[in-house]
Amino acid sequence: MRIGVLTESDPGEPRVAAVPDIVKKYVALGVEIAVQSGAGKTAGITDKDYEDAGATVVGSADEAVRDADVVLKVRRPNAEELKTLKSGAVVVAIMDPYGREAEVKAMADAGISAFAMELMPRITRAQVMDVLSSQANLAGYRAVIDASSEFGKALPMMMTAAGTVPAAKAFIMGVGVAGLQAIATAKRLGAVVSATDVRPAVKEQVASLGGKFVAVEDDEFKQAETSGGYAKEMSAEYQKKQAELVATHIAKQDIVITTALIPGRPAPKLLSKAMVDSMKPGSVIVDLAVERGGNVEGSKLGEVVITEKGVKIVGHANVPGRLAATASGLYAKNLYAFVETMIDKESKQLAVKWDDELVKATNLTRDGAVVHDAFKGKAEPPKSDTPKPEAVKSEESAASNEAKLPDAKGLETPKTTDGEK
Ligand code: NAI
Repeated sequence: MRIGVLTESDPGEPRVAAVPDIVKKYVALGVEIAVQSGAGKTAGITDKDYEDAGATVVGSADEAVRDADVVLKVRRPNAEELKTLKSGAVVVAIMDPYGREAEVKAMADAGISAFAMELMPRITRAQVMDVLSSQANLAGYRAVIDASSEFGKALPMMMTAAGTVPAAKAFIMGVGVAGLQAIATAKRLGAVVSATDVRPAVKEQVASLGGKFVAVEDDEFKQAETSGGYAKEMSAEYQKKQAELVATHIAKQDIVITTALIPGRPAPKLLSKAMVDSMKPGSVIVDLAVERGGNVEGSKLGEVVITEKGVKIVGHANVPGRLAATASGLYAKNLYAFVETMIDKESKQLAVKWDDELVKATNLTRDGAVVHDAFKGKAEPPKSDTPKPEAVKSEESAASNEAKLPDAKGLETPKTTDGEK
């Protein structure tokens, strides 16, 4: 059995899907592993590192995947890559399939078995395979580091002979995996931290990290969490109350990190232009939801916007990629944990358990067909390889994007009997 690891073809993707420590694990299973030369360069890994771990380094993408039974990638294979893959090959990646039905169909047409790691159920057994968590955790950390580097003041309180420096105030909006790490990181750096979310379960988590919880705690709030643990889209009335509360709080903040997402929907707009304008000049907002339409009015994907009033709005794309080495290490481990379940330890051959709950939940295509319920029969005419639908920048485009996305129920990961958060 052979595994191929490709250099990511998207110039905005510095991560790699296998790192030397994980290569050693595949080799120990009796698998041959071919890595395209240069695949680890942007994550600080040399060809020699891969060779020392037991991989064969090959000169081209074609050589890496031509005979591969399994191909490991960070992003969905593009049209060129699909041409080089062996029919029947298993391809594991973050497939970003929503709103990309034509691209999903192209993978079916190429005869590959595509697996979308982001569809992995959030159950106990699959925690080690949870790419959303491993990458969101790093994004939350990096958001605070990015904010502090854009901020012209210190974060901790300092009492010096030359005077006292006050602690910065940081407000985290959306306390999922990224938000929790952002709270912890901002606390470690000495900021005074507050946070908000629409899910009541979060209140205690914020307190346990030493943050202050700020939220409209009405009846709707008490029922805002779905059975899968995600947020629901809130009513217009709740959003109005939330905006009023946030408006008074935000004006006093130095740093705001927004991470709010609702499965299958464009990101909720949490900060209006007026709220941004109410902040002091020099304040910094990091919009981690910018790739899904953004939580902040005026945030731009891939840019640091400085408003007329001197507030910086940071909209970096691919924030986990800004920690490419760490992100690759965790991502590679997530993939290994899943791929290992597809290898027969006796025969050392690929043996996908097609009935396995995790396989069924993540498998998009097989034997020339789209097999995932959420994408069957939904292919549209192919689009050009330009902007991703989730990179919606205006309310108008967000609305049209929403029409293509499944409802929250369609995206929600099923809770199963061994499900625990
Ligand atoms: P996410 O990335 O979908 O959303 C981020 C946060 O934004 C969530 O906390 C959500 O409640 C919040 N949000 C949505 N709309 C908002 C609004 N209008 N205002 C303020 N906040 C808003 O969330 P993530 O990080 O994927 O976590 C979702 C849940 O899954 C959490 O309960 C988390 O603890 C749980 N989880 C469970 C795992 C497991 O069982 N293995 C692993 C990871 C997360």
